Amino acid sequence: MGEVKRIGVLTSGGDCAGLNAAIRAVVMQAANYGWEVMGIHHGTEGLMRQPPEAKLLVPDKVEQWLTLGGTLLGTINRGLPLDLPLDDGTIRDRRLDFIAGCRELGLSAIIGIGGDGSLKILHGLTDQVGMPFVGIPKTIDNDVAITEQSIGFDTAVNIATEALDRLHFTAASHDRVMILEVMGRDAGHIALHAGIAGGAHVILIPEIPYQIDLVSKAILARQAAGKAFSVVIVSEAVCTSGGDIITQTQAFGECRLGGIGQYLAQELTRATGAETRVTVLGHVQRGGVPSPLDRVLASAFGVEAVNLVARGEFSRVVTWQQRQVVSVPIEAITASCRTVDPEDTLLKTARGLGICLGDC
Ligand code: F6P
Repeated sequence: MGEVKRIGVLTSGGDCAGLNAAIRAVVMQAANYGWEVMGIHHGTEGLMRQPPEAKLLVPDKVEQWLTLGGTLLGTINRGLPLDLPLDDGTIRDRRLDFIAGCRELGLSAIIGIGGDGSLKILHGLTDQVGMPFVGIPKTIDNDVAITEQSIGFDTAVNIATEALDRLHFTAASHDRVMILEVMGRDAGHIALHAGIAGGAHVILIPEIPYQIDLVSKAILARQAAGKAFSVVIVSEAVCTSGGDIITQTQAFGECRLGGIGQYLAQELTRATGAETRVTVLGHVQRGGVPSPLDRVLASAFGVEAVNLVARGEFSRVVTWQQRQVVSVPIEAITASCRTVDPEDTLLKTARGLGICLGDC
């Protein structure tokens, strides 16, 4: 055993299934090195509060966390200004609060679990204050570069697939067009995977601009072949035919993606005469028990993140490549976002299955 270390672990950005499984793995592997783990509440915010908000996590405490949804540490889904203007006109440098929190907790390294945006922010902050950092990728969108899979994606695909399975029955019973709107931001991975797994007849993703008349044609062709129902899956960031992304303004003026399903329903009803209904899956995709694959991935990532700390390999992120955990410099995952590649094998699969992708 080396010198006794204390690692801080935190979750940042939107929650998803498998976060608690990753935290559990960090705690269990750290114990193998004789180290302690502090679970920090609400991302970096917990470290910046006075006193810092964190709790000691021990293997016995986290043993049952494997299957729990969400994050038991809490998270924040917004960037924090590091230079905070105060009422008296002065600026509070929250980096100093961060350093104070790390010192008070006696941390020698931080493991952060987040999407590409969160990992970039966390790395920037820890780098500025000289705190060693290792990242673990999570996001239902699966858009973190380099890694083939991020924690939470598989569970989201399972949920969307189950929704499609259910929609098939009701669509067929009523001879309707059923549209399922799923999350994913600018990446169509959820729609593409769930669309194939759930037997959708139309899959629309942001990476492939669609033509509404081609989608209508596919539905009319099914009707002409005696199949009066169709199931459509659409990613939230797919544009209207005018090229606009549809958003909804929430309380406090926040703009959120959402509404493309309803837009398509109107267009398709007009063009095909079919009765159309929309289901917006929303945050259901992020909640609940993680799938076995997400539990495996989270466990493998958590263990290897601690190994990186042990080897002193910092400013790195663990990734999943050909069933191996491979660490890469953090810049490699923040340089770009992993959207669906035009050569993605699943696009060929979808076309081979006769699924309409809206472009031909
Ligand atoms: O990035 C994950 C994600 O679930 C996106 O798919 C979605 O657009 C967004 O977060 C929703 O964010 P919020 O939880 O802030 O509504």
